[in-house]
Amino acid sequence: MILSGKKVVIMGIRNKWSIAWGAAQSAYEQGAEVIFTCGSMEKIEKIKELTDEIPNSKVYACDASSDESIKECLQQIKENHGKVDGILHAIAHANTQDLRNDFILTSRDGYAHACDVSAYSLVAAVRIAKELDLLNPGASIVSYTYYGSEKAIEGYNVMGVAKAALESSIRYLAKDIGKDGMRVNGISAGPIKTLSAKGIKDFNTILDIVEEKAALHQNVTPRQVGDATSFLFSNLSSGITGEIIHVDNGFSIIGV
Ligand SMILES: NC(=O)c1ccc[n+]([C@@H]2O[C@H](COP(=O)([O-])OP(=O)(O)OC[C@H]3O[C@@H](n4cnc5c(N)ncnc54)[C@H](O)[C@@H]3O)[C@@H](O)[C@H]2O)c1
Repeated sequence: MILSGKKVVIMGIRNKWSIAWGAAQSAYEQGAEVIFTCGSMEKIEKIKELTDEIPNSKVYACDASSDESIKECLQQIKENHGKVDGILHAIAHANTQDLRNDFILTSRDGYAHACDVSAYSLVAAVRIAKELDLLNPGASIVSYTYYGSEKAIEGYNVMGVAKAALESSIRYLAKDIGKDGMRVNGISAGPIKTLSAKGIKDFNTILDIVEEKAALHQNVTPRQVGDATSFLFSNLSSGITGEIIHVDNGFSIIGV
């Protein structure tokens, strides 16, 4: 078990389809103690019904768009669980109209909102975790991104811009926290049918195209992304930081 004796915080659990749930199951099976945070959109009692499937796990509320909320949440985690070895940031949000209309119509507020919740929240979470001395030496942080940061994908729109900001933030954060021997990486996951993905226009067409074109001719599962997350949390990846690793069954390596 590659995460024996490690404690990880999983931020961004919504329901059993969430990629974060695949990560939590993988981390638990690899020996980690799992602590969850969920957004203001979720009812904590409802989430607990799911997370209780992972023995001894706890859930804390955290609004990623508020530094105060992140601080309060991470402080509670430190008080109740002590220092942790990993944080998964699986959080993103954009306004529905910004995923339905052409990108050119994105409002100033919509642009700021998507980047705030989906990219800046990682910077805030890492900074606040460090300020609270929540992270053990060698801690590893992971965040989820998507190919829409690299290519213009119909319907992904402002979320692609936010993911590009997230990926760049990962590199700058890696440089900063590397001074303390800590790491941060991104996983660029292939498309997965989750509640968030439902907001993207023609998402089923994207799934069909990936199945047809990806090197492995399949769509990825939350568990595959979760297993890669466990690897990045583990000491097996101690030489990897600031990277964006594609877990997409080889879709992004195909030209024509
Ligand atoms: N589903 C995909 O195809 C796909 C592909 C690549 C990357 N991703 C990324 O994976 C991550 C997880 O998404 P998912 O697809 O599992 O969907 P999901 O809807 O299950 O999870 C998204 C999470 O973001 C949280 N969130 C949104 N706004 C928040 C806020 N203000 N404060 C705290 N939490 C907030 C939601 O509560 C939810 O838990 C996201 O970053 C998403 O962009 C998804």
